[in-house]
Amino acid sequence: MHQSRDILITSALPYANGPIHLGHLVEYIQTDIWARFQKMRGHNCWYVCADDAHGTPIMLRARQEGVTPEHLIARVAAEHQADFAAFHIGFDNYHSTHSPENQHYATLIYTRNRDAGHIAQRTITQAYDPVEQMFLPDRFIKGECPKCGAADQYGDNCEACGASYSPAELKNPRSAVSGAVPEQRESDHYFFKLGDFEPMLRAWTRSGSLQKEVANKLDEWFAAGLQEWDISRDAPYFGFEIPDHPGKFFYVWLDAPIGYMASFQHLCDQTPGLEFARFWGQDSTAELYHFIGKDIIYFHALFFPAMLHGAGFRTPSAIFAHGFLTVDGQKMSKSRGTFIKARTYLDHLNPEYLRYYFAAKLGANVDDIDLNLEDFAARVNADLVGKVVNIASRCAGFISKRFDGRLAAALAEPALFAEFITAGESIAAAYEKREFSRAVREIMALADRANQYIDEHAPWVVAKQTGREAELQAICSMGLNLFRVLIGYLRPILPKTAAESEAFLQIEPLTWDALATPVLDHVIAPFKPLMTRVDPQQITAMLDASKADLSATPATATAPVITNPHLERDPIAGPIDYESFAKIDLRVALIREARAVEGADKLLQLTLDLGGETRTVFAGIRAAYDPTDLEGRMTVMVANLAPRKMRFGVSEGMVLAAGPGGSELFILSPDSGAEPGMKVK
Ligand code: MSP
Ligand code: ZN
Repeated sequence: MHQSRDILITSALPYANGPIHLGHLVEYIQTDIWARFQKMRGHNCWYVCADDAHGTPIMLRARQEGVTPEHLIARVAAEHQADFAAFHIGFDNYHSTHSPENQHYATLIYTRNRDAGHIAQRTITQAYDPVEQMFLPDRFIKGECPKCGAADQYGDNCEACGASYSPAELKNPRSAVSGAVPEQRESDHYFFKLGDFEPMLRAWTRSGSLQKEVANKLDEWFAAGLQEWDISRDAPYFGFEIPDHPGKFFYVWLDAPIGYMASFQHLCDQTPGLEFARFWGQDSTAELYHFIGKDIIYFHALFFPAMLHGAGFRTPSAIFAHGFLTVDGQKMSKSRGTFIKARTYLDHLNPEYLRYYFAAKLGANVDDIDLNLEDFAARVNADLVGKVVNIASRCAGFISKRFDGRLAAALAEPALFAEFITAGESIAAAYEKREFSRAVREIMALADRANQYIDEHAPWVVAKQTGREAELQAICSMGLNLFRVLIGYLRPILPKTAAESEAFLQIEPLTWDALATPVLDHVIAPFKPLMTRVDPQQITAMLDASKADLSATPATATAPVITNPHLERDPIAGPIDYESFAKIDLRVALIREARAVEGADKLLQLTLDLGGETRTVFAGIRAAYDPTDLEGRMTVMVANLAPRKMRFGVSEGMVLAAGPGGSELFILSPDSGAEPGMKVK
């Protein structure tokens, strides 16, 4: 019926220094649904993943725990895999980037690029910890914010005032590892010449298979110019040593995506007939897709395809980026209890609820998705329990009790069944395009239709009347056949409920093509409840446990994660488009009151009038201004900055000032005529 395709699918490799949380699960659930769908369609589809085991944070975390990095990553790998299995993520293989296969491919890809002239060597100057004798990534340098003076700020942005800066600007910088004052030292580094691949990357971008948002991002990066990429790190480092350069290691982001290949190689080695080159060779006709979060597009859309190309491997067919998870409209927060670990969720709730909820929310774009906990409970209860499972429970009892479990020999309403089968085309198209929310909507419309059929034929009424036995059997058999088709359509989302339903109906695992053939004159098993309702108390208990978890976690457990320097300030770096700019609500503000803040020698507390609305803002401008000079003056503020809790109170925005900081700061003012509250465009 369909032509079988070769498809290899990956999810991003989770870092091996922390637990899986609900944010991660957006990705693994999205990918798993797609992989299960492709398999159900009969394609030759493989889904692989691995732990991302290398890098400074993992090395330091192991040190902190007093274990070897190998020991740490083995423990975390077991935890990750247990979490994934519990959420029914059906990887065909789960490997590690700290593996012989990965060392082989990382080395091969590096040496081929080197021999083709795509690697440059340069000496760079970097912060160095003289006590630990190691170079320090930006995120491991802390000091006082150059803008507001807040203590203990990491790397390149201030938690207190939101300023961003270069780590070299931090006052009283200290190594976050040893507390020593960092020195500046030179070291030889190796760079991948990304610019060599611009024509190839431009062609890849135009291939038409990238999401619009991703293609736009790439165009911006091209416009900004492709930078050479530092792929080396000095010892001590947990990673692979660079061939011919003792003491130098591949940067974790070099070997991480190559981990996709390593995991697949490992799978091939255990699977007779599965050939690596068929999927990764230069002229492979297989489809290769990487599901990733929007924060790591740069690596997957630029570095990885370029390195592959430079080493004579095929490039991905597409990358599929998704947005970030928010909980109740806000970033996951440890203090609100909404930073929820996979394990904490599993302690309280059924994993299929979350699979369903994410599916109902996911589209093919990079928009963030929100887990609204009230909506979550309402939807699962209304749709899965109230609509889908209900169909089976309304029909199954009569079939068991009155007909020895045997279904009727013919469909009562073949036209309705045919309607359900025809609808499958559009549902399959939605899955294929990763428009899961549309698939769910269409499936639920069918579920409504099935319930309507049962309501209209009221088997509970028919059952009470004599001489209507055949009718009763026909109605219930029709209902169960509609249920079977619905479960088939939901199978990529609800693999466990589907398997239990298959056991109940006594049928083979459903494939898409099998759905069109109804089950007739066939004995089913007694019905057992397939899913129970979400109890709001379970949700409360989960949030409480997440909060409790926070107090049990040592502060150091949130070791910063190092990513690409291009991205450290902003998940999607580079020039911004007009829409991003338009999101900033700049307003003319009248400074009604300004006063010094006790205990903060850098801050002034400003009371700002926005033409009717008053805001309190703490600004790090005390060294530059006498508070009395500011009162009555107009300035410009960012009015929609999320409120920030500081030691002295909540700051509800930010005023704009130019200059390097300290006493050299110049507040912006509008020309005369502007009025408080006016929008600045
Ligand atoms: N190790 C890298 C990926 C290397 S891939 C060659 C990494 N790891 S991660 O653990 O930080 O994230 C793994 C995946 O989960 C990434 O695709 C990331 O975007 C995604 N998510 C992590 N937090 C997320 C949310 N809060 N919401 C949605 N996705 C999130 O990045
Ligand atoms: Zn600051």
